[in-house]
Amino acid sequence: MLSEKSRPVIEATLPVIQGRINTITPIFYERLFKNHPELMDGMFSRADQKEGIQPRALAGSIPVFASYILNNPDSYPDEILSRVAHKHASLGVGEEGYEIVYKYLFEAIAIDLADALTPEIAEAWTEVYWLMAQALIKIEKGLYDSQANDVVNAPFTLVKKEEVAPNVYDFTFEPADNTPLTPAEAGQYVGVVVKTADGLRQPRQYSLLPSQLHQRRFAVKINPAGEVTPMLKDLREGDTIELSNPYGDVVLNNISPLEFGPLYLFTSGIGIAPALAFVHKLASQGNGREIIAVHRDQSLESWPLRQEYAAAINSLPDGKLISFLQAEGEGDYDGDIDMSRFQLSRQSSAFMCGPLDFMQTVRSSLVQAGLPGKNIHYEVFGPDQWMHRARRQTI
Ligand code: HEM
Repeated sequence: MLSEKSRPVIEATLPVIQGRINTITPIFYERLFKNHPELMDGMFSRADQKEGIQPRALAGSIPVFASYILNNPDSYPDEILSRVAHKHASLGVGEEGYEIVYKYLFEAIAIDLADALTPEIAEAWTEVYWLMAQALIKIEKGLYDSQANDVVNAPFTLVKKEEVAPNVYDFTFEPADNTPLTPAEAGQYVGVVVKTADGLRQPRQYSLLPSQLHQRRFAVKINPAGEVTPMLKDLREGDTIELSNPYGDVVLNNISPLEFGPLYLFTSGIGIAPALAFVHKLASQGNGREIIAVHRDQSLESWPLRQEYAAAINSLPDGKLISFLQAEGEGDYDGDIDMSRFQLSRQSSAFMCGPLDFMQTVRSSLVQAGLPGKNIHYEVFGPDQWMHRARRQTI
């Protein structure tokens, strides 16, 4: 809990720190990577650094955390912490890293705020940093302890590769050594690490698809201008890469804790991946709940994993698949998702996965249609720019 001494200082300086994140962040990372270039090898994504989204996500989450604990003195923003801790664990972030991040982050704050940073302000923000760090370290430790092995990544061999839509590939891997495998839950992802042309190892995360227990299967949309996905596209059966243990807290129990009421799955493009894992799991459980899967895509051809998804939904006792496709006459409806087609009730839950603008639109329409914000869940591929909204606590 934040001390009474720090509380007024944080209250008074929160807007300043929030307003300076964009200038503090580049100073922080420049110093961090200059002094610890090893962090760019297998841990931080070089592409995210170039884009600048993740950099803001890390530093920007600290004032978000501060604001939360000012308003809710007796609790922590569990959802935010959990998402970050799972992401950290998939990358192998360890306790020792927090001292390093602290050092360069606070050096950057000191440079940026110059004389405006009094010892009192520095001390209060140091307290906030360590409250957040300790909370993350604790969750991360629990996650590491629950794995079947104590390695961050293990070697896996590609056993099957298939193009499932133009520029979308479906990969199946099997362990290349005897590292015990942690079972994955539907909705989780794995970290994938490849060695780029200049020798630097670069990580990404991909949602797991249904597979046999000893396998890891995921689908990747290839970005021809990207650093990692073209390398994955070039993999051949028999090639070996590193995969992390499975992580991610967007699992069925979290997105749909209610055992009644319809569950809507809104997906677009490759965002279908975690929904396929959910439907597959629900089908294997013989779950009789009403599941309405709503998919948006360009056309039947561009829709990845379509047949497998349709078959899984068909095998549910009460499942429906409804498509909204841009290509005229190809889907159940033309164009974008139209929420007025559905009979949403306050008992419904919804899960969304796809591009951020897609999820923003779906979310607004769901809220407008009367669905409580706490029943709306999502998975973001890449850094979560919605971080400031605790997912189960919104609106
Ligand atoms: C990602 C916060 C410490 C390495 C993130 C994200 C946040 C965050 C909000 C984005 C999560 C997402 O939505 O995907 C924090 C906070 C920290 C902290 C508040 C300290 C209190 C660390 C440490 C390390 C680290 C100590 C390693 C030395 C990373 C990496 C990513 C990440 C590698 C993914 C970035 C990418 O690949 O683009 N962190 N973090 N973080 N964090 Fe941390």
